[in-house]
Amino acid sequence: MNANSPKSWLGDLKKDLLQRQTVSLYRQLLPSDVDGPYLKRGGKKLLNLAGNDYLALSNHPQLKEAAVTAIEQHGVGSGASKLVTGHSCEVHQLESQFATFKHAPAAVIFPTGYMANLGVLTSLANQDDVVFIDKLTHASLIDAAQFCGATVRVYPHHNAEKLERLLERYTDARRRLIVTDSVFSMDGDVADLPALCALAAKYDAITIVDEAHGTGVLGDQGSGLCELQNVADQVDIVISTASKALGSLGGIVTAQQPVIETLINHARSLIYTTAPPPSQVACIAAALDVITAEPQRRERLVELSKHVREAVTQMGFVLPTTTVQTPIIPLITGESDAAIALSAHLNQQGIHAPAIRPPTVAPNAARVRLSLRCDLTEEHVDQLINALASAPKAQ
Ligand SMILES: Cc1ncc(COP(=O)(O)O)c(C=O)c1O
Repeated sequence: MNANSPKSWLGDLKKDLLQRQTVSLYRQLLPSDVDGPYLKRGGKKLLNLAGNDYLALSNHPQLKEAAVTAIEQHGVGSGASKLVTGHSCEVHQLESQFATFKHAPAAVIFPTGYMANLGVLTSLANQDDVVFIDKLTHASLIDAAQFCGATVRVYPHHNAEKLERLLERYTDARRRLIVTDSVFSMDGDVADLPALCALAAKYDAITIVDEAHGTGVLGDQGSGLCELQNVADQVDIVISTASKALGSLGGIVTAQQPVIETLINHARSLIYTTAPPPSQVACIAAALDVITAEPQRRERLVELSKHVREAVTQMGFVLPTTTVQTPIIPLITGESDAAIALSAHLNQQGIHAPAIRPPTVAPNAARVRLSLRCDLTEEHVDQLINALASAPKAQ
């Protein structure tokens, strides 16, 4: 090929990007500095209602100290994958601590939640199996379901009846896997895990629950929705991430020992990647200690969630129905333009809450998503409520 010939594929990419701009779907990376509940971006300091640091642990002195100590003792990298030399004594101990926290027999850590989800589904399911997945389940599980090669059947959000109809049709499959988020990341509502476990028992299915947004936040001990709904001993496989309420990074799977051993033997996203560094491992262990020692963090979060949910409902926003008051509060505007306008208005009022648009959410379900954190003050909450009240087209 002639080295001077125009790169037509680059032109195609530009055309696609332009098209995204014209329909308000263009995404870009904006450099920002997170500083406690604030975000500094473009010379402006904004109240940050976009992150998932629900318990404000990413800046907790105990976690920072644990990370620094781990770096001083063991360096900055794990040096190899878990099966080579990356499975340190500290990782071993953390996995056992995490299993206890989750009321589960065993645990294994992946570098991220995305990789854990990928590892679970690709290790347990193949073309002989059927994955039944709630329509609003996180993209990482949808990707994992597609990659594993199983038949994928999407059931309407929360619709246990439809799920049962689907389960009835696939009794001949080798395995049936029911896959759901515990707290849905874009809607802030929660799954009915007892109902899913009952169906799993009836149809001999495996239950897989992504507790990314429940871990650290829900339940008496902060273990998650499985604990809150009293099904920790019924859900087969739980995936947690340390990237939300635990303040750092890492995906942890908890399950019976044979499941964990299967992942160690088959999960390519565990086998062919470098193990988490010592600082990450130390942060997760410290986060579990803080969650146990400081229940007031999640109590405050519940209080804030109730208060803000009530306030926005009074303003006319219709929130998804939920049995649990989670800190994820979607202000659904419908059109992408309206979501962008509301987000821009909040920005003018000193608040960062991004517009979430298709394909992350369904067409005509664009929204501004608020995610609360336990260190918000009464002044912060007033700032938010006043800003929403003065929005040009509050719904
Ligand atoms: C529900 C859910 N599952 C999984 C993930 C992926 O977790 P991680 O950020 O640790 O890769 C996320 C967040 O990004 C999430 O919201």
